[in-house]
Amino acid sequence: MLSIRPRSSDDCHLIVSWVPDAEALYLFAGPRLRWPLTLNQLTSGEQSPEQTAWVAVDAGPEPIGQFELTMHDSHAHLGRVLLDPTVRGRGLAHDLVRLAVAQARALGATSIGLNVVTGNRPALRTYERAGFVETSRQDAVRSLAMTLNLATHVR
Ligand SMILES: CC(C)(COP(=O)(O)OP(=O)(O)OC[C@H]1O[C@@H](n2cnc3c(N)ncnc32)[C@H](O)[C@@H]1OP(=O)(O)O)[C@@H](O)C(=O)NCCC(=O)NCCS
Repeated sequence: MLSIRPRSSDDCHLIVSWVPDAEALYLFAGPRLRWPLTLNQLTSGEQSPEQTAWVAVDAGPEPIGQFELTMHDSHAHLGRVLLDPTVRGRGLAHDLVRLAVAQARALGATSIGLNVVTGNRPALRTYERAGFVETSRQDAVRSLAMTLNLATHVR
């Protein structure tokens, strides 16, 4: 069973190692970052008081996943959802996103938005199963936006 805790600077080297190439970086973070992923790029949002970064842990102390939440009033943006490549394919993404949604609620969110690369089937499926619906699409940058309304979403 996964649980989350705030991401520490010690976690970041490990997280950077989960992004092995430019395509993986694009799936993870979209068009804004340039390969190779650096610690500075990963942590650049930490100066913003609206942003919080979280890691998921399983049985051991080491993180196996991460995500970031940025609050704009009562709207949360969920970003940079990532699982350790060695634990993918086991359905853990559903737990990770469920924990992200619960944390957004705890931070006061009534809605959550995210952007996902259009061909990213595991991510799309995970978000759809969590209740997110597509709201817009930008084919030029292979991106679509999804939203979850927490006021109407049954936990
Ligand atoms: C996105 C990510 C967290 C998903 O985790 P995962 O372990 O790969 O996914 P899971 O095995 O938990 O599968 C999630 C769902 O996607 C489905 N899925 C997986 N691969 C699929 C594929 N190629 N086509 C369609 N569905 C697929 C699974 O069947 C599962 O749905 P189900 O439970 O209804 O059967 C993980 O792949 C990852 O970290 N990717 C790199 C970073 C990234 O893309 N982040 C998203 C940023 S928006």
